[in-house]
Amino acid sequence: MRPFVAGNWKMNHTPTSGRQFVKEISPKAKGLDADIVIFPPFVTIPSVVDEARGSNIKVGAQNLFWEKKGAFTGEVSAEMLLDVGVEYVIIGHSERRNIFGETDELINLKLKSAISYGLKPVLCIGEHLAEREAGRTMDKIKFQLDSDLSNVDINKVIIAYEPIWAIGTGKTASPDQAEEVHSFISEFLGSKIKILYGGSVKPENAYQLMVQPHIDGVLVGGASLKPHSFYDIILAGLKAFKEKK
Ligand code: PGA
Repeated sequence: MRPFVAGNWKMNHTPTSGRQFVKEISPKAKGLDADIVIFPPFVTIPSVVDEARGSNIKVGAQNLFWEKKGAFTGEVSAEMLLDVGVEYVIIGHSERRNIFGETDELINLKLKSAISYGLKPVLCIGEHLAEREAGRTMDKIKFQLDSDLSNVDINKVIIAYEPIWAIGTGKTASPDQAEEVHSFISEFLGSKIKILYGGSVKPENAYQLMVQPHIDGVLVGGASLKPHSFYDIILAGLKAFKEKK
């Protein structure tokens, strides 16, 4: 068991600044017993893959389209991602769902496409604040898991629990709140799949989150943009996992 620490750069870092980030972090990350994955914007992927070669930093994409190729202006396929050296892909991030209108049906198609090409998908799920306040968190989680994972081999999927009210807001779910949902997901899926927590993770709270029994790692947005804070989160994960063993 080792921590899985992922950086979702969202629409940040150019090919030039992304390369610089990897240059700074890869010597420090060398030999660390952690899965470290960076998810740059599409255009930044090639320079990050290039700079990360020979290091223990893996690269993912933030999205894909499920068709192989064709007249789909603005979209990128699994085959293209593989060709450029991508291993992971985020699917169903709440920003894709809420800003770009992605439905659970589309997310299900994307998951199937990713898996059929051998990409490792990170499926994001999570509740809105109103849903939590109405006591409907677990219903929402169950609904998303049921629909997004319909006819999908769950053993090939990494789940990221990201309460929407905690993303980019500075409000992190407490370790207990996160653990409650993680253990629900783990029981619901009845399988040994990885479950990451995401939503305002920073160096100061990463240890307390990752030390929880059902939190296998973190998906970090804002705090993954600077090498030193991302690195501190990796170290917090290593410390937490050492204690969990
Ligand atoms: P945040 O984003 O860490 O900036 O809250 C997390 C995410 O959206 O994956």
